[in-house]
Amino acid sequence: MRSSKWLLPLMLLTCQVLLHRLVKGEESHCTSVAGMVKLLDLEAQLIDNLADYADELEKKLDIVKRSIASMRLENDRARGSTEEYLSNPLNSFSLIRRMNRDWTIWQLYIDDPVGLTQMEKIQELREHMPTSTDVEEAVTALDRIQSTYGLQVAEIAHGLLDGRQYNVSLTALDTYAMGQILFDQGNYWAAAGWLYQSIVLMEVYTISAPLEVSKTEVRMVYAEALLKLNQNADALKVVNIALADKPHDIKLLLKKSEIETMIRTDTKNQAPKVQQGATEAYKMGCRGQFPPSVDGRLHCRYNSTTSPFLILAPLKMELVGLDPYMVLYHDVLSAAEIKELQGMATPGLKRATVFQAASGRNEVVKTRTSKVTWFPDSYSPLTVRLNARISDMTGFNLYGSEMLQLMNYGLGGHYDKHYDFFNQTNSNITLMSGDRIATVLFYLSDVEQGGATVFPNIQTAVFPQRGSVIMWYNLNDDGKPNTQTLHAACPVIVGSKWVCNKWIREREQIFSRPCLKRRK
Ligand SMILES: *[C@@H]1O[C@H](CO)[C@@H](O)[C@H](O)[C@H]1NC(C)=O
Ligand SMILES: *[C@@H]1O[C@H](CO)[C@@H](O)[C@H](O)[C@H]1NC(C)=O
Ligand SMILES: *[C@@H]1O[C@H](CO)[C@@H](O)[C@H](O)[C@H]1NC(C)=O
Ligand SMILES: *[C@@H]1O[C@H](CO)[C@@H](O)[C@H](O)[C@H]1NC(C)=O
Repeated sequence: MRSSKWLLPLMLLTCQVLLHRLVKGEESHCTSVAGMVKLLDLEAQLIDNLADYADELEKKLDIVKRSIASMRLENDRARGSTEEYLSNPLNSFSLIRRMNRDWTIWQLYIDDPVGLTQMEKIQELREHMPTSTDVEEAVTALDRIQSTYGLQVAEIAHGLLDGRQYNVSLTALDTYAMGQILFDQGNYWAAAGWLYQSIVLMEVYTISAPLEVSKTEVRMVYAEALLKLNQNADALKVVNIALADKPHDIKLLLKKSEIETMIRTDTKNQAPKVQQGATEAYKMGCRGQFPPSVDGRLHCRYNSTTSPFLILAPLKMELVGLDPYMVLYHDVLSAAEIKELQGMATPGLKRATVFQAASGRNEVVKTRTSKVTWFPDSYSPLTVRLNARISDMTGFNLYGSEMLQLMNYGLGGHYDKHYDFFNQTNSNITLMSGDRIATVLFYLSDVEQGGATVFPNIQTAVFPQRGSVIMWYNLNDDGKPNTQTLHAACPVIVGSKWVCNKWIREREQIFSRPCLKRRK
């Protein structure tokens, strides 16, 4: 019977692994900081490879230059006294031989490409390099940071993130890619901001070959974005500025007359997506703008009632709210334990999935960007200890609950508003162990900026604190889902956010919470 408790988590895991392979053959690069570390090693390899290429070029250049010097010397000498030189049979013979044979060899030498090996090396490394899908995801992530926290493009580009200045900035190429891709995604408002920034940066810094992009090209895309936003007159201005640099550019001239016609006939594109007015509750929470709770916020006490263990080692407990019942425990994990958890999670991190009621399966979705890995309760002495601690904290029996889930969030990593409960009857996912009665969420890291856990319906935001744990009940006493538990993980602005969570299932809690009715 004991083995049956693994069945569901195992099924879920298999399903998740299979789906991962199906949905995303390639790795998803930006969704975890831990997963991106290897990109830097890869970049180092690519730079070394380019240095090898430079060496080869230099060697060839050296050979060519030395040969030119000696050839020129001989030729100059001969031309100084042409007749005398050529009257000597040795000189004539040598000249004829040189002209016929050596220059054939030089022709072949010039034709022989430098860098084939290095080209192959890049091709070989390509399979581990970010794909265009990765770039699109990274663009979406940066855009998410911008919109969630209401940041200005120019500030981001200059390294000012939500009021904190970093010694990092974006280049004209970075901002151009943001603009281009947001344009392709139909997000013209955001695209226009980035394209404008790219033009500003191009005025100040030149992009060197072979990566250069022409200003005309960027201005053209910017004008297109303005047209999509029905700012036809502004688009015309941009094209006119571009024409001042390149008066005969045929594409620009055509665009100019096209826009002039549009203005004359008052042609409008479909109404662009309007920027939302009032800031959503969720975003306010992420920004730390929820009002403090009326009763002076939190109640702290040592909790030693749930289990005999806690009498010996009481936990620092803070009551966050009663609907849903939510508590925060401080200093639950030691630094050594956190390090061990991160170490064991890193190799197995995979893009996180979400259960989709429609398909009855776990799938990769845009609304959840992090990497995750699961550990059975008996995986190691640490997981055994951790589960015991969860039981002590919550008073719940973990038999039949889900495996420990370890997660790392990457660039702008987030999890949109969601409930943890399934609210599914007659579904395989809740058949054996019931719904998720409670969520226990360990914060394994501080997050420098962003990354709060926000409960918009109860105006509560919890900011990650290394070693602390938040626990809340997802179900009401009657076993029905509590919609006040709606929550989200705000995008990380700066930091590597690590969390570990345990979803506790309801079935085994019948005796500890007798008022809980079994649902059929
Ligand atoms: C900022 O970074 C640059 C190079 O990355 C460095 O030369 C400069 O000293 C840094 N400035 C500060 C204030 O740290
Ligand atoms: C201790 O925590 C448990 C579970 O969170 C809770 O049921 C109990 O009421 C708490 N005890 C005190 C004294 O707060
Ligand atoms: C739970 O499911 C029931 C039945 O399908 C539905 O009526 C109810 O609205 C759902 N509740 C939530 C919070 O999704
Ligand atoms: C439950 O799983 C079984 C076997 O995997 C499958 O045949 C059945 O359709 C599933 N039922 C539901 C409701 O998803």
